[in-house]
Amino acid sequence: MRHRLIVPSAAAAFLMLAVPASAADATPGAPGAGDAYYPTSGNGGYDVSHYDLRLKYEPKSDKLDGTATLTATTTQALSRFNLDFALKVSEVLVNGRPTPFAKTGAHELEITPASPLEEGKEITVVVRYSDTPSQVKIDGYSAWQRTPDGAVVANEPESAVWWFPSNDHPRDKATYDISVSVPDGLQTVSNGELKSQTSKLGWTRYNWRATKPQASYLTTLAVGKFDITTDKTADGLPVLNAYSKDLGDNLASAKASVGRTTEIIDWESKVFGPYPFNAIGGYVPNVKTGYALETQTRPYYSPSGFANGANASLVVHELAHQWFGDSVSVKNWRDIWVNEGFATYAQWLWSEKEGEGTAQQLADYVYNGVPADNEFWKVKPSDPGANNQFHSAVYNRGAVALQALRNKVGDKTFFALLKDWTEQNRFGNGSVEDFAKFAEKVSGKPLQKLFDTWLNTASKPSAAAAARDGI
Ligand code: ARG
Ligand code: ZN
Repeated sequence: MRHRLIVPSAAAAFLMLAVPASAADATPGAPGAGDAYYPTSGNGGYDVSHYDLRLKYEPKSDKLDGTATLTATTTQALSRFNLDFALKVSEVLVNGRPTPFAKTGAHELEITPASPLEEGKEITVVVRYSDTPSQVKIDGYSAWQRTPDGAVVANEPESAVWWFPSNDHPRDKATYDISVSVPDGLQTVSNGELKSQTSKLGWTRYNWRATKPQASYLTTLAVGKFDITTDKTADGLPVLNAYSKDLGDNLASAKASVGRTTEIIDWESKVFGPYPFNAIGGYVPNVKTGYALETQTRPYYSPSGFANGANASLVVHELAHQWFGDSVSVKNWRDIWVNEGFATYAQWLWSEKEGEGTAQQLADYVYNGVPADNEFWKVKPSDPGANNQFHSAVYNRGAVALQALRNKVGDKTFFALLKDWTEQNRFGNGSVEDFAKFAEKVSGKPLQKLFDTWLNTASKPSAAAAARDGI
């Protein structure tokens, strides 16, 4: 609410509110989106609708050249605004005009247009850059990982700053065109669909397109030598899987896992509702690091996930995130349970279906198996803290909470809830509190005590509480 003029009447006050702030009222956009865990992630004052990334990468020298064109709409009159970016920038244009910029902090790019921007206007921002991204470290870390034949970027909660300027918070989703030129003989993998590829002068350019709203941390790129398989699901969804040619002994087990993507998506569509995007697949680069990530339409899997044979359960987890995490995203990073609790519960449902233990048995196993003095019970899945965002408690205690909910509301309501949540919040954001309220509304039952017990308490729930909730 602005207080600029003394207005003579209610009608005039109404008009004042309806009129967008003019350039004269312009103030700087906030350098963060207001996320308590990551205060400098995201920015205020505008909303990005589309990223067009035109990139060139040379693996031998790790040199990345890029031109990013962002289409955004201002949400306030802006005297200046920030993008999140860590690489070296050579030029910025706002609405076609060369514009002064400064790097402030580890990953803030502050842009000051010559004249302020009005509220509610579409703007075009071009950023030209060049750097060696694996060498750009923030707290000793770069999400841009070099591989023997290329590179890959996939990390949560932060990866975009190492390869394109963005409004780096899951509340600002956008569509993407990602065009990458690499030396002939190398492939690329990214989100959505590969629309075309052309070669000239020793370089091959790959054009990827993602047409559904996508968070910046779910945007991914890999360069290297890949075996690429393509297919279509029964309802015509294009499937593209990619396996590094350098997976050695893990290649067969990676294929026996990621190769089941179509089957798993079909099953999850029955349980969670229609698949939200228009492409799917997964990729396995030749990295040494040990995590997987639900990069949108094309999850990232480290080969180590397949070192003991096939691991369909891991694929079930990353694909479940397409609904829980990617389509319905966290409102703030503290809400990570709305991603991880549900993706873990999907694995329990898969286990139940495969005859390898019911979700009830797995919930009981967690409750009975982890002693009360274990650090596990000190982590509150509803607010684990930035350092414990990916703590096993968020995943497993988080899934126990869903089993308790299922017991309380019954299978019919529980499975309707999963579908309704993904449908009503498609391409949006939800918090832990939003889900709790939603579950109360859909079930018509008071559930605050149940959520407090399993998500909001920093100790092991008592035997009486567990018995009450069927755990
Ligand atoms: N969301 C990922 C998963 O559970 C976890 C990513 C953890 N991030 C990391 N850099 N280790 O599927
Ligand atoms: Zn996960």
